[in-house]
Amino acid sequence: MNGSSHIFENIDALYAALEKQWQLIAHAAIADHGAFHVALAGGSTPRNFYKKLAQQLVVDERCWHKTHIYFGDERCVPQDHSDSNYHMAKEALLSAVPLLPEHVHAMFSTDFSVEQNVARYESLLHDALPQDVNGCPVFDLVLLGMGEDGHTASLFPDTEILHELIKPVAAQFVQKLDAWRISLTFPAINAANHVAILVAGDAKAKILADIFSAEKNMVARYPIQQVDPTGQLDWYLDIAAAHLLNSQD
Ligand code: 6PG
Repeated sequence: MNGSSHIFENIDALYAALEKQWQLIAHAAIADHGAFHVALAGGSTPRNFYKKLAQQLVVDERCWHKTHIYFGDERCVPQDHSDSNYHMAKEALLSAVPLLPEHVHAMFSTDFSVEQNVARYESLLHDALPQDVNGCPVFDLVLLGMGEDGHTASLFPDTEILHELIKPVAAQFVQKLDAWRISLTFPAINAANHVAILVAGDAKAKILADIFSAEKNMVARYPIQQVDPTGQLDWYLDIAAAHLLNSQD
């Protein structure tokens, strides 16, 4: 698979290492272009990482004031809904650190249709972020999780959004969830300077081993295979998720 794998004895060691990389990337981005543009992952794995970030003993106010929060994907539900990634991040991190409110960019609002939310986010990304040679917005860091079916963000197996090669963000009705999602697309993820994929727990071990050992061209079945950024890709794995990987993976 693409990128570098980092395997940790337990989830706390994984979070500690990821926090160090977050700080390094944030300081380098702020020194380089005056801002740190980061897209958060949803789901349960990153929640406690966000809580750890919020519990920093020394709050680096200058850094948080220059941090711009985006989302890798979102469920099309109210922002106070328990399924909302924005709601999860707000509870775990956003309300606990000195971010500037205007620097927190929820991906979905019930004030707009799904299509209008996509259009608004695409405009936001083009206005707020540096662009690459293809005109694609460039995040300093994109955090991703991985589902037990090999999806990442809301890029699910055998869905149309996997074939979006131009737009940085799109909507997708996910049949098996019977729900609309909005997600960064592969162009946006792969334009990022850094991508960190968090995979933890025994339930992910089999799919992770399948993905790492599968032919690279099985994206329809394993969408996360298409995460191949021009920047740096790091897999943050705990032993429970990684114990079936072959040594050469
Ligand atoms: C979402 C996420 C999704 C998540 C994976 C893993 O909105 O659900 O963005 O891609 O990262 O489903 O979720 P867990 O961390 O809960 O296993």
